[in-house]
Amino acid sequence: MEKLRINGGHPLKGELAISGSKNAALPIMAACLLCPNEIMIDNVPNLRDIKTMGTLLSHMGATIEKVSENTLKINTKNIRQKFAPYELVKTMRASIVVLGPLLARFGEAAVSLPGGCSIGARPVNLHIEGLSAMGAKIEIKNGYIHASAKELKGCEFEFNPVSVTGTANLMMAACLAKGQTILNNSAKEPEIVNLGEFLITIGAKISGLGTERIIIEGVKSLKSEHFKVIPDRIEATTFLIASLITKSNLKINNLIPGHLKEPIDLLRRSGAIIKVSRQSIDIAPPKKIKPVSFKTEPYPGIPTDIQAQLMVLNILADGHSTIHETIFENRFMHVLELQRMGADISLNRNIALVQGIKALKSAPVMATDLRASAALVLAALAAEGETIVDRIYHIDRGYENIDKKLSSLGAMVERIES
Ligand code: UD1
Repeated sequence: MEKLRINGGHPLKGELAISGSKNAALPIMAACLLCPNEIMIDNVPNLRDIKTMGTLLSHMGATIEKVSENTLKINTKNIRQKFAPYELVKTMRASIVVLGPLLARFGEAAVSLPGGCSIGARPVNLHIEGLSAMGAKIEIKNGYIHASAKELKGCEFEFNPVSVTGTANLMMAACLAKGQTILNNSAKEPEIVNLGEFLITIGAKISGLGTERIIIEGVKSLKSEHFKVIPDRIEATTFLIASLITKSNLKINNLIPGHLKEPIDLLRRSGAIIKVSRQSIDIAPPKKIKPVSFKTEPYPGIPTDIQAQLMVLNILADGHSTIHETIFENRFMHVLELQRMGADISLNRNIALVQGIKALKSAPVMATDLRASAALVLAALAAEGETIVDRIYHIDRGYENIDKKLSSLGAMVERIES
């Protein structure tokens, strides 16, 4: 198993480019199942989760060609089986997004239930209820969702709570359904907007993207196209935080600042000096980081996917702060590891109380999930001495070449085998 050896306490310097968004690319790849023609997708990050989605699609009979490092050509003309096996779904919950497109194009699908997750229960009841409302017959048997429908019919459905992949699944299914579908309390995340833009590019009729009411008029078929995935706003925010906690000036390129409004406001409140340009951000650290209390919320609020990384910022701030996790019930697994590095954090259910300290200490630590592992890497960059971050396969699921990118900024990071 691979680990990262990080020698922390050194400032970073320079600039780097943000990769394509994992959470946009995954449903866009799944959406290729809606259309039997060849589709080219650019700016796809080279990540473990993307490979898993590729394996899942190939397993069904799709051909996936890597045209270049970040461009995929996907053809789902010869889908043989409309089946997503447990072995793949258990490694990546987002695999559930093949359910809607498979059902819409082929009238049948069998997708494994994703099962438990380290950050919370993460049910998929809304995906199932929404597809049922579109007329699908759904049975849960032996851990699998078996869905069938002669023809999906448009419907009005409300998400409660708002669900990102739930919105993706129903929006994709509705593209080939008969008539109009209205999705209320839909996710407004930029990744959902990007998926919707992709669907429109291949011929879908969708309005209301980026609002809580998305309206889809079903069409008979979709066509082949070329599309570019948006930059990853979570990766971008992670590097902005890296600048502050290592007291470094950085320039982060290839991002969409409009997707980062609330995180940028929060970082400014912590004292960061931020200059926003059209596709890049220059960031400089304050002398002392001010603590910033926040709660995680659906977009445009502070994403739960940067809660762990922002905790590291607060650990190194001058004073105390509270962090309220409102999306997932168990997303504080990183706290125990950060405490091993000297962090002063107490937990009260889904609220973390963070008392800032002068410096973190290096220690061997273990990544428990994707974003927790990013927080540990950040903590290691700030801590004096050598930290070994174990189980970094988690970080490879969602951060493209994290070790190479950090090294390019002057960090002392090395990937080692156990
Ligand atoms: C997506 C993101 C993930 C991010 C999360 C929240 C992808 C691939 N993953 O995950 O990185 O952390 O959004 O921004 O895009 N819920 C239900 N029933 C359902 C579905 C969800 O109760 O059927 C609840 C969940 O338990 C959670 C909340 O809704 O409390 C939001 O979850 P959801 O938006 O669905 O997360 P994902 O789409 O799985």
